[in-house]
Amino acid sequence: MNIEEYAKKHKHYLKDQMPDELDKLFRDNSFSRFIDIGCGGGLILYSLYKRGYDKKLKEIWGVDLSSERLKGISSISADIKTVQDDAQTLVNVPDNYFDIVVSTQVIEHVPDDGAMINSLSRITAQNGIIYIDTVFKKKWAWYFYKNQQGKYALDPTHVREYMNDSELLSKLNINNMEILLSRKQIILFPVVNFIVRRLKIKSTTILENPLIKLFSLIKVPVPGYYIWKIILKKK
Ligand SMILES: C[S@@+](CC[C@H](N)C(=O)[O-])C[C@H]1O[C@@H](n2cnc3c(N)ncnc32)[C@H](O)[C@@H]1O
Repeated sequence: MNIEEYAKKHKHYLKDQMPDELDKLFRDNSFSRFIDIGCGGGLILYSLYKRGYDKKLKEIWGVDLSSERLKGISSISADIKTVQDDAQTLVNVPDNYFDIVVSTQVIEHVPDDGAMINSLSRITAQNGIIYIDTVFKKKWAWYFYKNQQGKYALDPTHVREYMNDSELLSKLNINNMEILLSRKQIILFPVVNFIVRRLKIKSTTILENPLIKLFSLIKVPVPGYYIWKIILKKK
């Protein structure tokens, strides 16, 4: 299925959800130019505004390969600059520009992850920070879906899910990037998400309902699956 059809079929719903490590970066630093690569429906951008981190930023950009995904971003704020671009090349994004570059749950969708890493590095200013997270799994990991290679996958559109650190870390140019953090956290899946998907609930009002939010606290671990969070600094 092509990326636009997929975006139409599987909408991203907005909720205030940001990885703790990213939240800490915003609390501890004064960034001025922020970009979210593969921003999708705008989960991180929405959370940024909900938490008031937008106030300190001078520029906020959202980039995605899918124009369909980018359509809803203006509903978060008209101040967000949206750009349709490929994370592997980012031809419409300037060099050495951003002091905080974020890409959550995208690199596992991209055929050439090394090219994506190089592009992220290129657009980051000197001493700027890159936050990436992706999927990491044990050999015995299990989930409902299989990807095109016939392997279990958290999402059928994942082209890869990392199984050892060197698969990704070996692609970093260690001469111009310092690893500040590499942490894996078991993935917990809210039981209510199964129900929401099953009933095809799309309304943000329902998803923001306090009772639904309370139920979403009941979570089960996904066997063998982790979120792998990496923070890099461009030297
Ligand atoms: C799982 S979603 C993650 C969205 C968002 N970052 C989040 O955490 O909610 C993956 C996103 O990556 C985008 N994407 C896939 N391949 C891409 C590419 N080559 N360049 C830019 N974006 C891409 C998809 O359109 C989708 O919006």
